[in-house]
Amino acid sequence: MQTVVSGIRPTGNLHLGNYFGAVKNFLRMQNEYNCYFFIADYHSLTTHPTPENLHNNVKQVLAEYLACGLDPEKSTIYIQSDVPAVAEMALLMSMNAYLGELERTTSFKDKARQQPDNVNAGLLNYPVLMACDILIHRADKVPVGKDQEQNLEMTRKFANRFNHMYKQDYFKIPQSFNYGEALVKIPGLDGSGKMGKSEGNGIFLVDEPKPLRKKVMSAVTDSGPTEPNSPVSEPVQNLFTLMEVVSTPDTLQFFKDKYASCEIRYGDLKKQLAEDIILFNTPIREKIEDIKANTVYLNKVVNMGREKAQESAEKTLRDIREIIGIKHF
Ligand code: TYM
Repeated sequence: MQTVVSGIRPTGNLHLGNYFGAVKNFLRMQNEYNCYFFIADYHSLTTHPTPENLHNNVKQVLAEYLACGLDPEKSTIYIQSDVPAVAEMALLMSMNAYLGELERTTSFKDKARQQPDNVNAGLLNYPVLMACDILIHRADKVPVGKDQEQNLEMTRKFANRFNHMYKQDYFKIPQSFNYGEALVKIPGLDGSGKMGKSEGNGIFLVDEPKPLRKKVMSAVTDSGPTEPNSPVSEPVQNLFTLMEVVSTPDTLQFFKDKYASCEIRYGDLKKQLAEDIILFNTPIREKIEDIKANTVYLNKVVNMGREKAQESAEKTLRDIREIIGIKHF
């Protein structure tokens, strides 16, 4: 059976981008593959969270994963720092990762621009640790959104380099994966770019109906189409893209037709979009609080996950130490 690995940084609540870019695939994959889904708490340290924030966010994301329908009986759900073997592997793999290629990644350049006072070595080494998250379980498939494509390319590069350097066929070359074929990019409400946790443009699974309606109603649009079948601007296309994932095909078509005939009222489109998001997120939101309150259950899930993830990771680490030449006399 093929192996699947994917992770999410615990830097805030899950938003629709996380859900439709990644988690939706997890729900189906857990029935078909040997899956490892983890909370990437080491990765989140690049932004220097306070200890309380880090701890609370890990708990929150775990509760959100479970409320979405991830099943700890079917897949291995774990916290990255519960598997320190990944940190040793990242040390070993970093010896074959070069400064130039790490500096050139778009995520490093973006982060260096966003947090110029905190361009730490963890940010630079991010793709190495991420590659190890994946390679440590010798994954075949990695369900992620489009924003992670470059990190996956780096993972393949590091895997190939290791195989080549040690003349082994040890690592499989993992592929990014989405059931709909093309990787997904869910846009935000601010007219351009992807939905993100820190961009202030996100719709979260925990959003209550009232503030959610307000958020959607204030989404950026344009002054409206002036002639039939005029091209759709990016902010309006973004609203259609959101509708594509939460609304019925008929609803989407209705508003596209209205746009094509210049009869569209963006207020109506936003109202409909908000109601469809509320229908989608309400059952999940209601479960999150219950699960979060159940510490006994959360601990059970974490313990189960830790044991299974450690077993798989430690086996790989033993193998690669041996391949590298770290062995007993
Ligand atoms: P993160 O925490 O930013 O996001 C988690 C997952 O959500 C997807 N995603 C999106 N998909 C579509 N549209 C969006 N607007 C959007 N925003 C987020 C991401 O693609 C991701 O799948 N580096 C990773 C975490 C990570 C990881 C890994 C993932 C660490 N190690 C190993 C896979 C395998 C990250 O920052 O994702």
